[in-house]
Amino acid sequence: MKICSAISLSGGQGKTTTVFFTALLLAQQGKKVLAVDADPQANLTFYLGHEVQPDEPSLFEVLTKQVEVEDGVYGTQYENLFVMPADRGLFKVSDFLSSSGAGAFILKQRLRKIHDMFDVVLIDVQPSRSQICLSAVGASDHVLIPVEANVKGVNSLVDTLDFLNEQAELEAFTGSVLGIIPFRDRWVGNTQTLEGRQNIAAMKEFAGEAPILASIRESEKFKNAIRQGKLLSELDQPDLQYPFEQIVEALTHE
Ligand SMILES: Nc1ncnc2c1ncn2[C@@H]1O[C@H](COP(=O)(O)OP(=O)(O)O)[C@@H](O)[C@H]1O
Ligand SMILES: [Mg+2]
Repeated sequence: MKICSAISLSGGQGKTTTVFFTALLLAQQGKKVLAVDADPQANLTFYLGHEVQPDEPSLFEVLTKQVEVEDGVYGTQYENLFVMPADRGLFKVSDFLSSSGAGAFILKQRLRKIHDMFDVVLIDVQPSRSQICLSAVGASDHVLIPVEANVKGVNSLVDTLDFLNEQAELEAFTGSVLGIIPFRDRWVGNTQTLEGRQNIAAMKEFAGEAPILASIRESEKFKNAIRQGKLLSELDQPDLQYPFEQIVEALTHE
């Protein structure tokens, strides 16, 4: 079982989009996938068509050890794809994690128990230096860093790489950066805009060893696909799906 988090320390950087399409694609290819929603905004939970009921355990109960980890796993409408959902109650988990003193290791420990049930665990992570984020980073073999192809995105990349380096020095992050994914890269016809090109060049300067993966192009088609719960290839847009195919390739060949 491989654990991969999508991390970026600002909102609107493409984390949920990346996890959603990568999870659907992996599942369609026959991999057993668990999508973990580690963002109290709970967009991933919503995209996967799950609604947390008051009496049903979610990631919160799993992290606070009120239930066994498998009790927080639910099927979805997709074959091979399961979700560990979140709701806004997840905001409260930080107190528990920080007072436990081992917050960075709790998710890792908890997921160990379902090691044989899944091929890949994808975690959509809250965009802040929170205990939830520490816990996801601590559990990860790999991280993906989606960032908008603009100045805000480059700043988010710098913050995120700093954070990961700090965690690596503390030996709380022992994984690798699978890649940086430029998000909402604007093209006009077959030409990338100057803004996109310049910002991706800036990302390369900060990336160090981390590869810059194929960019996710700016397009309403992604939102349509999410709304319909479908892959872009199923909506006759196979070219737009390439970034997720590249991630699947990297994840399954690592
Ligand atoms: N290719 C795209 N082009 C433009 N907007 C997109 C694209 N893909 C997703 N979006 C929209 O961009 C917003 C931010 O993406 P999201 O994945 O939710 O970011 P994050 O999870 O990092 O906050 C969402 O409203 C999403 O629907
Ligand atoms: Mg999100």
